[in-house]
Amino acid sequence: MRGLSKAVESVKSSVTLRINSKAKALKKSGKDVVLFTAGEPDFATPDEIKNAAIDAINANFTKYTKSSGIIELREKICQKLKDDNDLDYSPDEIVVSNGGKQALFNIFGAILNPNDEVIIFTPAWVSYAPQVAMWKAKAVAVSTSAEEEYLPKRESLESALTDRTKAILLNSPNNPTGTVYDRKTLEMIADFAKTHDLYVVADEVYEKIVYDLEHVSIASINGMRNRTLIINGFSKSHAMTGWRVGYSVAPFEISKEIAKIQSHTTSNINSIAQMAALKALDVDTSDMVVEYRKRRDLIVDLLHKAKFKFFKPKGAFYVMIDVRAFLNGKTTEDLCIELMEKAGVAMIPGDGFGLPGFVRISFATSQNQIRKGIERLSNYLN
Ligand SMILES: Cc1ncc(COP(=O)(O)O)c(C=O)c1O
Repeated sequence: MRGLSKAVESVKSSVTLRINSKAKALKKSGKDVVLFTAGEPDFATPDEIKNAAIDAINANFTKYTKSSGIIELREKICQKLKDDNDLDYSPDEIVVSNGGKQALFNIFGAILNPNDEVIIFTPAWVSYAPQVAMWKAKAVAVSTSAEEEYLPKRESLESALTDRTKAILLNSPNNPTGTVYDRKTLEMIADFAKTHDLYVVADEVYEKIVYDLEHVSIASINGMRNRTLIINGFSKSHAMTGWRVGYSVAPFEISKEIAKIQSHTTSNINSIAQMAALKALDVDTSDMVVEYRKRRDLIVDLLHKAKFKFFKPKGAFYVMIDVRAFLNGKTTEDLCIELMEKAGVAMIPGDGFGLPGFVRISFATSQNQIRKGIERLSNYLN
């Protein structure tokens, strides 16, 4: 045997998946576990969207489409970019893909050469570094902290810079911290990217879920349009995780390369899901955000009362709590397993996000579950 891909071998299996499957197995065996692990909305996909998919099937819209996505959907995404983000793009600068996740993979493929470096702010979503590694490039972690609202500092960007730095990845609103980058921070990153001629990959999948400040796309900052590559999708905004619809937004020359990768890997995404997404762009889901806000306020209040240390999330549906005081020599993953088995609360350890000593709670669950879960946590730990 001649061996395997070193790049793929270097990718670790996901802690998130390990914890999730353990929690689900416990639940299946009859144990009452509060699941704070979900990385997806707990709402159903709105009926209008489901009906658009049913109509598409009945109209036999079941064949290959253009691999970048149907023109109507790409046109409507351009309209959304104009209305929501004040950005001007044409449909050939959009590639519809199997979720934001594939859009991101395509983007990295389009811009990275072996050994190029991508700066990633940690804590970070678990798939960025593995994707960069799979394209044989290197993820360079730049840490952020709760004390600084998980916002990056120019000094730490400067110290991570090398002559191989190709791109900066940012995710706002952020999974797992719930931070939302303010305009000043975005301007700092934009200035840094322009000074050093870098791309910015902006993961905006949680853009609709904000509580305290508006989402600003870094592409809208002066001079950034042609060096920004956006990923977005319908999973979080329209409770459509299983439909697998996302997209990339990038200048034409880069989108051409993205489209090549897409066409030679999956061709188009599911034709029916594209019709559902087309409808989704007409469906207002602000009622979901109203409910997330109530849950955010509730969980913040409960965590305060139970005297936990945490950063109050401004967007997305996660809160990271500091559990360093409870580790007593254990790893964070061990503590999470103990809490799951003994206290009946399942959470994701921060290790996979690059922040051991912290755990991520997802509040994409009912207010009752939130009350029950935080009470159990507090009773067990305090
Ligand atoms: C930060 C972040 N980016 C991207 C994604 C990808 O979502 P999808 O592929 O479902 O669009 C997720 C999903 O959990 C996420 O949390």
